[in-house]
Amino acid sequence: MSKEIKTYRKHVFVCCTEGCCGARGGEAVYQALRAEFSERKITDVLVTRTQCLGLCPEAGATVAVYPDGVWYVVSKVEEGTEIARQHLIAGHPVTRLLSQEISLEAQRKGAGHVEKACNCAQ
Ligand code: FES
Repeated sequence: MSKEIKTYRKHVFVCCTEGCCGARGGEAVYQALRAEFSERKITDVLVTRTQCLGLCPEAGATVAVYPDGVWYVVSKVEEGTEIARQHLIAGHPVTRLLSQEISLEAQRKGAGHVEKACNCAQ
């Protein structure tokens, strides 16, 4: 008997590290993304709460979308909802929220490289 394998179209990683991204909007954005997909009954997007992703923006929280390789810095619930609707549902990344520390070219190729050392206590 074969087991059904659940696959996802997109996987969203939201940094919720306590005292760092989690306190700068990560936890609220994570909850907003989950609520948006639940409300719309979208089941092919997986949203995962993570620890440090190595970017540690000075303001906001890190959100990474795969397989697109697109990294955002967000701080407001509304920004999380915008990413859900514009990028994850409509398919158009929200360019104004892209991380400035990962080059746009690298993001376009899905090969962003994080060089900044983490500032959190991980
Ligand atoms: S604590 Fe969020 S990226 Fe480092």
